[in-house]
Amino acid sequence: MRRARIAGAGMCVPERRVTNKDVEAMMDTSDEWIVQRSGIHERRWVSDGETPADLAETATRMACERAGIDPSTDLGCIIVPTLSSQYEFPGTSFFLQERFGGTIPCFDLRAQCTGFIYSLSIANALVVSGQYDRVLVCGTEVHSTGLDKTSEGRDVTVLFGDGAGAIVVEATDADDPSGVLNVTLGAQGRYARKLWVPWGSALFPNRLDSEKLDQRLRFPRMDGRHVFKNAVTRMPEVMSTALEAAGVERAEIDLFLFHQANLRINEYVAHALDIPTGRVRNNIQRYGNCSAASIPILLSEAWDEGLLGSGRLVAMTGFGSGFSWGSAVVRF
Ligand code: ACO
Repeated sequence: MRRARIAGAGMCVPERRVTNKDVEAMMDTSDEWIVQRSGIHERRWVSDGETPADLAETATRMACERAGIDPSTDLGCIIVPTLSSQYEFPGTSFFLQERFGGTIPCFDLRAQCTGFIYSLSIANALVVSGQYDRVLVCGTEVHSTGLDKTSEGRDVTVLFGDGAGAIVVEATDADDPSGVLNVTLGAQGRYARKLWVPWGSALFPNRLDSEKLDQRLRFPRMDGRHVFKNAVTRMPEVMSTALEAAGVERAEIDLFLFHQANLRINEYVAHALDIPTGRVRNNIQRYGNCSAASIPILLSEAWDEGLLGSGRLVAMTGFGSGFSWGSAVVRF
């Protein structure tokens, strides 16, 4: 059986920097509170007219260039994990595919902050099965246009940033030591309402009911403490399962890339697993939480810095709304 490897990674964040001081001007919060509770100093938010597909296109072109392929001719399928779809339908993946022409299949995947790990699992399966030789996974998020920028939404709004991250998953020989070694996924719909946007397009008799919009149902709601507790339990758990299934010891991992929800969560997880801080890479300080784009952005930065050379072992772990969680072990 053949294997699948990550052949390239790319990213794009909007130019517009929004510092904690800028957020202070919008709502009752403080730089001190945000840094202490989340580790975030600034995030990037789109400017007027900038779309999820714009960010995704730039990230995709960078990933494809690094993989040495042409996105217009060399991809077999496009998967776009996102929780901030460009339109109600069709999915953002179609607006990304449009940029490259052609007729390859594409679809969006909804697993929120774990969307990238879920998509990697599917891309791996599609390549290993022989259905496609190359699959693009591009997480792209524009959260900023859907956040409550008043004090009422401060617990959620200060945490999120916009951005896109992409990888090319391509076929390789079964005896190639590089490749996806394991992806393990989990979910618990019981807690779907602990982090969600309670607006249901199919749920209400009239989905455009302005009264419902006035009730601010369109904004994300979060039980922060519940999310925190579950994240710090599930992340070490799923990573340990993935490492064991991959036949890899924790000490062998060169780089740990965790979803960027909160620096405190990641420090807690690293501490619980006795992982030296030098082997964990975080960028939430600069970008905030970019949901499905967080891990591929980390991958792209690591690629840029030459940290993903041949033989390097990387463990990626995510947790998010759903609740959903997952971990992937990959050798470069
Ligand atoms: N600025 C100032 N004060 C705030 C803000 C803010 N932005 N947000 C909340 N507060 C206040 C609260 O109103 C509360 O005030 P009170 O004590 O007078 O009632 C106080 O701060 C403490 O609120 P808590 O919610 O108890 O604060 P906590 O220490 O739990 O930190 C946080 C909140 C950062 C959200 C934390 O619960 C957390 O990290 N949760 C994990 C959730 C997460 O990371 N979500 C990201 C998205 S999900 C994902 O990607 C997995």
